[in-house]
Amino acid sequence: MPASLLAPFRLRDVEFRNRLGLPPMSQYSAVPGEHAATSWHLHHYATRALGVGTVIVEATAISREALVTPHDLGIWTDDQQDSLAAVAEVISDGGAVPALQLSHGGRKGSRTRPWDGDRWLRPDEGGWEVIGPSPIPFASGYPVPRPAGRRDIDRVLYDFQRAARRAAAAGFRMLELHAGHGRLLHSFLSPVANQRSDHYGASFDNRARLLLETVSAVRGAWPHRFPLAVRLSCDDYEPGGWTLPDTLRLAPLLARAGVDLIDCTSGGIRRPQTRRPAPGYQVQYAAAVRKTGVATAAVGLINDMRHAGTVIDAGHADLVLMGRRLLVDPALPLRAVGAEDAGLVPRQYQRALQTVPASDFLPEL
Ligand SMILES: Cc1cc2nc3c(=O)[nH]c(=O)nc-3n(C[C@H](O)[C@H](O)[C@H](O)COP(=O)(O)O)c2cc1C
Repeated sequence: MPASLLAPFRLRDVEFRNRLGLPPMSQYSAVPGEHAATSWHLHHYATRALGVGTVIVEATAISREALVTPHDLGIWTDDQQDSLAAVAEVISDGGAVPALQLSHGGRKGSRTRPWDGDRWLRPDEGGWEVIGPSPIPFASGYPVPRPAGRRDIDRVLYDFQRAARRAAAAGFRMLELHAGHGRLLHSFLSPVANQRSDHYGASFDNRARLLLETVSAVRGAWPHRFPLAVRLSCDDYEPGGWTLPDTLRLAPLLARAGVDLIDCTSGGIRRPQTRRPAPGYQVQYAAAVRKTGVATAAVGLINDMRHAGTVIDAGHADLVLMGRRLLVDPALPLRAVGAEDAGLVPRQYQRALQTVPASDFLPEL
């Protein structure tokens, strides 16, 4: 593992042992109606915590209405909170900072999970009403969202705040607000989805209002000593959509409101999307945002340690998140050159290093 990747990193009072992390990746493995973490989540997150600096637990709904699928995790009941406390504990035991992504699905909600067809779940099948900024569906085959009114917005702010309090009580030490990939907070930012003419639409300031209010609400409930991250789709790749200059204008406002890290992703405001991802395609966003003075995470087709190291060395990001690669190859950080010296290989596994040669990178997936 390149030395730069192994360097510790600090946000507020939280120390990350290195610069590699797992991005949030939905497992769609909760029981419908319960939305608590299961043995799958415990196994999955415990395994991924080995060797990385942080594990960001998947998009977790702040309320029932905020779900995307009936199999999503949630954090609005005591049982859900207790189940997530067990997840935070196994991640901490593995040496990584346990982080949780909070989400409201907005107009992407009421769907079946990917392997159940990824289709609209109608009300007569147990689906639910979805809200959005304007009555514009995410794509054909998606429901028309009900435009959020004042009471809906107050409810969203309250639910995010309550979820933040529960996340702290569950033992998470970093929180990420999902404001990308077309979910509610992103849909308010983007003119593609937001055509309101009130306080929450039209101008840049108005479109940014819901996210900034959410950050303030959450910051008030989330311990001061713990970092707050926001995941942003830095570019919609759509004519008339949210752009990188918009992101660069928003980043200092987020930082001033108490955001410590911007996790830079892109796209997802509607389907179909024509942009084809290439290795490291979103690093440019992390690099540009970092120049505004806020720490960033780079993510997206960064599949080996050497590539991850170059992103850190070049000063493009403070953290590199490796997703799909670590789904199928969770031991990759343990096999990296330098991992043993850095104390990343658990004692129980050290004999494996005598027979499995360490390698600093593997072929691209
Ligand atoms: C199975 C799967 C589930 C995902 N779920 C989420 C999610 O819950 N929240 C989110 O912000 N991004 C989600 N993503 C996007 C990832 O966090 C990441 O940004 C993306 O996979 C690109 O990184 P990679 O090329 O290293 O996989 C998901 C991706 C995958 C493959």
